[in-house]
Amino acid sequence: MALWAGRFKKEVDERVNDFNSSIRFDFRMYKHDIQGSIAHAMMLAWQGIIEKSEADLITAGLLGILSDIETGSLEVDFSAEDVHMFVEAELTRRLGDTGKRLHTARSRNDQVALDIRMYLRDECDAVIDLLKKMVETLCEQAEQHLETVMPGYTHLQRAQPITFAHHLMAYAQMLLRDIDRVQAAKARMNVMPLGSGALAGTTYNIDRKQVAALLGFDDITANSLDGVSDRDFCVDIAAAMSLIMVHLSRFSEEIVLWCSWEFKFIELDDAFATGSSIMPQKKNPDVTELVRGKSGRVFGDLMALLTMLKGLPLAYNKDMQEDKEAIFDAVDTVKLCVSTMIPMLSTMRVIKENMRAAAARGFINATDCADYLVKKGMPFRDAYKVTGSLVAYCIDNGKTLETLTIEEYKQAHPLFEQDVYRAISLETCVIERKVDGGPAPGAVKKQIQAVQDSLEAMKHEH
Ligand code: ARG
Repeated sequence: MALWAGRFKKEVDERVNDFNSSIRFDFRMYKHDIQGSIAHAMMLAWQGIIEKSEADLITAGLLGILSDIETGSLEVDFSAEDVHMFVEAELTRRLGDTGKRLHTARSRNDQVALDIRMYLRDECDAVIDLLKKMVETLCEQAEQHLETVMPGYTHLQRAQPITFAHHLMAYAQMLLRDIDRVQAAKARMNVMPLGSGALAGTTYNIDRKQVAALLGFDDITANSLDGVSDRDFCVDIAAAMSLIMVHLSRFSEEIVLWCSWEFKFIELDDAFATGSSIMPQKKNPDVTELVRGKSGRVFGDLMALLTMLKGLPLAYNKDMQEDKEAIFDAVDTVKLCVSTMIPMLSTMRVIKENMRAAAARGFINATDCADYLVKKGMPFRDAYKVTGSLVAYCIDNGKTLETLTIEEYKQAHPLFEQDVYRAISLETCVIERKVDGGPAPGAVKKQIQAVQDSLEAMKHEH
């Protein structure tokens, strides 16, 4: 029998019941639902709205339900409409009339708005922890490869020499911004909606601030209609999750390339690669392909949330129940991807010789060759032209800038002298780029230190 049975002459059709029910996916919020209800009951007693003895019974009853769920002795009733109804019905089954007092001065609309916020608050922390671990892993790998020269690319064409450490630390920067975004979304979300009632607040003399303090919220929502209608925070978090997936997906794409025979810059540990059922030679980077593929579902979750909200009149509409699967999936997917990528990254083997060899082909020191002439007094545009014609000459004659003779250099321009070889060596090209943010080992070391410092500072923020 439904809780609202008084108003109805018929039982709800079983198909409608299944269609309407959200317990399959919102049951995961049981802990937060119970915590919220305990705070609410305590406040009701403090305000003299229910008896203290009743609040104590309710609290004990709810804690009993919580532990029975966690030990597995209380089974979920999947015919219940949602987690809120399930917990309340179970409480009433255990306590009788006292259980029925819990929902005084509350609606499921403000209750669900509370529960999702509390649930997502914890999830944000979990995502942030994982991202920090991934950044740490990147720093550790980078420390090993401060001098591992590789080609940097634009248009996927070899462009200028960098180091593997420099490349990895670019991702560390993206992930640090991701952490910041998740923290900001969490902070915006951390306002307490209980007391908004169904939409128009309540006539009971409740103390919303007290509930907010009990549950660790920074503030209370300022408008009851907004308090129950707002799902901005889901969009906010889904957007943050989407950008995380963009970053993981770009990184994954690079790893897929690096694992190919065409690059062979890295080799994944056997435990983090898979074979083929037919081709014995294959070792596939499935993890990264799946991460790349899963980005699509997270962007889809963001679109689903935006579309679900855009036409809704205030206040609550059942459409809003669709928020959960989308935001849960987005967060679950990110957690899954990050936690699988971390050990994959820490165990991958870097094949320095191949990186070095790729950097040595493709004229990635051409800019430095032009800069050499500039340092000898030539305007950059002229130096660019002279070097361009040298590159063309090399291509025609199967040479590289390193293997040209000094006579060939001098023929291109008399300003060239013996010291050109040092100026265009890959090591020089990297070491001389010591500008802040550049690939020189010292500059990257500074970068790693700064990243590690900011991770350390975050530990003390909490
Ligand atoms: N399961 C519902 C949801 O997730 C809870 C709120 C129900 N409120 C209502 N007025 N039907 O949105």
